[in-house]
Amino acid sequence: MPDVDGFKEAKKFHTDIPQKTEGFFLKGSNAYDWGLKNRLARIFNPDTGRTVMLAFDHGYFQGPTTGLERIDVSILPLIPYADTLMLTRGVLRTLIPPSVTKPIVVRASGGTSILKELSNEEIAVDMEDAIRLNVCAVAVQVFIGGEYEKQSIINMTRLVDMGTRYGIPTLAVTAVGKEMARDARYFRLATRICAELGAHYIKTYYVDEGFETVTAACPVPIVIAGGKKIPELDALKMAYNAIQQGASGVDMGRNIFQSEAPVAMIQAVRAVVHENETPEKAYELYQTLKNESGA
Ligand code: 5RP
Repeated sequence: MPDVDGFKEAKKFHTDIPQKTEGFFLKGSNAYDWGLKNRLARIFNPDTGRTVMLAFDHGYFQGPTTGLERIDVSILPLIPYADTLMLTRGVLRTLIPPSVTKPIVVRASGGTSILKELSNEEIAVDMEDAIRLNVCAVAVQVFIGGEYEKQSIINMTRLVDMGTRYGIPTLAVTAVGKEMARDARYFRLATRICAELGAHYIKTYYVDEGFETVTAACPVPIVIAGGKKIPELDALKMAYNAIQQGASGVDMGRNIFQSEAPVAMIQAVRAVVHENETPEKAYELYQTLKNESGA
């Protein structure tokens, strides 16, 4: 029986201060449960509403991609500058120290390789294992217009159902087949389908014409993939344009880890994403950091 004699009566009710009921900062996410919101708030910086995700999951279908031959050597130095890491569970368990506390987005679809039809994926990670790995989201490829379009959509809806049960968001990654037009019309279609079917946020590609219509028509946050390696200034321009046209961040891989100076490049990308820095200024930062590092 606790000693109640020393119990101090609570007096500070602050009856003059109404309890705050704040909306959640992230587009379309206000109605989610606490755990799901909390995970999203780890992926997206609540101060800017944006994220710099570092993507290095490419090996799940293409093996040791250029720049990812030795993830322990090339990627670990970048981790302090990333808001979020996107990777496979194999790399997470074998190469990422558990002392790393950055939010993890685990690649949860797979089953194909570059030698075969890529859209023929299935769910490749059990939700129980995702929870065991303490992830903040699961990522699934969705192939709108692809040969296995329906299967890939159903992979996504299953992950949404399972993840929602445990408060784990699903990132839908819109994959574009070689034969498909990479234009705003296609990305409006692909991103909207993913959002309508429950994806909590969506990764897609930037397009020069009409990208603002893609973000406007999508009720959840969009992050852009970097795509194949382009010159650093061009990659910074792409990130800048995407952010100014409504993207909530980047999920960038090759344009960071294949850069001549990856540590400098990720910091320049951060300046564009979180500080609205112009591409030219961010490129100056890149060059300064690159020269300082002797890369
Ligand atoms: C693979 C992915 C990759 O994570 C992502 O597209 C890679 O990023 P980047 O295009 O910037 O190298 O989702 O399909």
